Amino acid sequence: MFTYDLGEGAALQILELHQASALLEFVKENREYLGKWMGWAKDMQTREDAEGFIKRGLTRFNENGLPWVGIWLEGRMAGGILFFPVDEAINSTEIGYWLGQQVAGRGLMTRALRSMLRYPFEFLKLNRVGLQADVRNIRSRAVAERLGFTFEGIRRQSWMHDGQLIDLATYSLLAHEWRELQQH
Ligand SMILES: CC(C)(COP(=O)(O)OP(=O)(O)OC[C@H]1O[C@@H](n2cnc3c(N)ncnc32)[C@H](O)[C@@H]1OP(=O)(O)O)[C@@H](O)C(=O)NCCC(=O)NCCS
Repeated sequence: MFTYDLGEGAALQILELHQASALLEFVKENREYLGKWMGWAKDMQTREDAEGFIKRGLTRFNENGLPWVGIWLEGRMAGGILFFPVDEAINSTEIGYWLGQQVAGRGLMTRALRSMLRYPFEFLKLNRVGLQADVRNIRSRAVAERLGFTFEGIRRQSWMHDGQLIDLATYSLLAHEWRELQQH
């Protein structure tokens, strides 16, 4: 099992099928908090759903080498990070992330993402990582800005969530910007 130690009791692990129950429990505990912004957290109701989610991550990992990971804190699932498919024409991917309500507000996601961004930029030599958040998702946008992503603009009514068209704030980080950030 791949484990990356983030320090202070936190670790990243590639999501594997034996963690389906832990994932389902985590989502159940945080359904309202996560479901406000992410449709899949509302839809995941059964162990089979959780396994399907993890399988999708493992399939993507086999295809493009970008893992979907769980964030663990003191042995309990605390959140996760995923990547969207790679656009090979422009060497670009997109990143998504979530935390449990109990562990928000202490910098865990910022730390976890700093580590995970090494995958696209350092291991796969991609040129761009995009990130999109509901314009009203202030905490998610703050994470993007804290990590040095550049705000590109708003894609109006470009996403459907809970039967409503949502405006998405879009951000990106380019490889040369990532390298410059590593030097500070
Ligand atoms: C988006 C989400 C992961 C952000 O969580 P978060 O806890 O704000 O992010 P971090 O773990 O990086 O913590 C940052 C907070 O910890 C504080 N913090 C404390 N120590 C810190 C440190 N060493 N480094 C950075 N931040 C630190 C920051 O000041 C910030 O708090 P503030 O916004 O009140 O100033 C979380 O809100 C979430 O999961 N939401 C639901 C799902 C979701 O929206 N996902 C994104 C979809 S686009």
